[in-house]
Amino acid sequence: MPQYLVGFSPRLSGEVPISTAKNAVLPILAAALLTQEEIILYKTPDLTDVKHMLGILRSCGAEVTEEKGSVRVRAVNVNSPGENALLRTMRASVLIMGPLLARAGECCLSMPGGCAIGQRPIDLHLKGLQKLGAKVAQEGGTVQVSGLLKGANIYLDFPSVGATENLIMAAVLAKGVTRIENAAKEPEIIDLCKMLGLMGARIAGAGTANIMIEGVERLHGAEYTPIPDRIEAGTLACAAALTEGSVLLEGARSDHMRALLFKLTESGVICQEDARGLRLRGKARHPMEARTLSYPGFPTDMQAPLMVVATQTHGLSVFLETIFENRYMHVVELRRLGAHIRVEGQLALIQGGRTLNGTAVTATDLRAAAALMLAGLAAQGQTTVADPAGHLARGYEGLEEKLSALGASARRLDAPANLTKKPGNDGEFMATN
Ligand code: UD1
Repeated sequence: MPQYLVGFSPRLSGEVPISTAKNAVLPILAAALLTQEEIILYKTPDLTDVKHMLGILRSCGAEVTEEKGSVRVRAVNVNSPGENALLRTMRASVLIMGPLLARAGECCLSMPGGCAIGQRPIDLHLKGLQKLGAKVAQEGGTVQVSGLLKGANIYLDFPSVGATENLIMAAVLAKGVTRIENAAKEPEIIDLCKMLGLMGARIAGAGTANIMIEGVERLHGAEYTPIPDRIEAGTLACAAALTEGSVLLEGARSDHMRALLFKLTESGVICQEDARGLRLRGKARHPMEARTLSYPGFPTDMQAPLMVVATQTHGLSVFLETIFENRYMHVVELRRLGAHIRVEGQLALIQGGRTLNGTAVTATDLRAAAALMLAGLAAQGQTTVADPAGHLARGYEGLEEKLSALGASARRLDAPANLTKKPGNDGEFMATN
């Protein structure tokens, strides 16, 4: 079981490179199923979710070659992945549905899994595919989509990131023109469309609420380096703001991080963009208000890390989570460390200025895991973050190593045999090494 040991670490300083974005790499890998030719992705991050997506592509018939830092995928023939446990490990597995349907005329899939941060249905994906002419059959935990696709006008009731991506990938090979209204505008959508453009797709309006896709007969191979991970960069920016650090986030795109940077700046942190990336200096002192929204609003993936920053400001911060209905699971763990946080439905009230004290906590989802790592930096003594489901490594490439490179006391404890249950403390573990 992965477990991390984090010690009190004031004033992080130094430079750290930002990895490529998990949320861009996953849909782009799914897009490889749209062509018989080879696609090459550079700087692919070493993440469990990426490994799982590659496993899923293999089970769809693709040939996958991993080289140092890059991946080649060639999908000469494609098929549905069949019964594959990997499908249930992450929500993004649903992204193969659009490409498989477009390419092979059908796709049969076990319902996707992922972090337990809400219900996360796929109704918008399925409604959109039906608009494109697909037949949808659901039975138990399996969904089957089939049919020849034809361009259509689609309105998304909510600008879902995954549904927008899936529908774009389905529409690129459909006959005629597809218009998606109320589409998601995340930078990762633009990145996917750039890659699809290199593969020969005809897409206009990516990054706006209205995307138009003109179907083409076939796509070809392409090479691409996806964008840097704005959520990883944001998490490290929060680490700097929390510890009164002076940090350069090498390669970070501040234009993708505006909402977070406004919050940190209002709170007293100096955020400067330069040719090498993003520099942060100083401490977040003033309390903040943050409402999670679709891009370009404040990202739900940054809610837990920013909440940790809020615990160390002077005053009452107010957070509102509007994207996922169960995304305050980290609060119980932060309270164990001494944070004063009250949750009322979608609302969280964070009373800043309380001393945090290290103890054993457990990661409940991916961003919660990162938030607990940050909390450990600000907590007196040692914090042990147990991560039984391996959430952190799903989405962060060596977060503990990057924090250490900035001078933090953070490391992964890797010997399961050395973990013993704490007496009288169910579900928690302590390290003996
Ligand atoms: C993506 C990101 C995830 C981020 C989220 C919101 C990837 C791989 N993951 O997830 O990190 O937290 O966007 O920014 O890119 N919904 C429906 N029906 C649907 C689809 C979504 O009701 O068919 C709801 C979801 O339950 C959720 C909200 O819409 O409440 C947002 O979901 P969505 O934008 O689809 O997120 P993901 O693509 O799963």
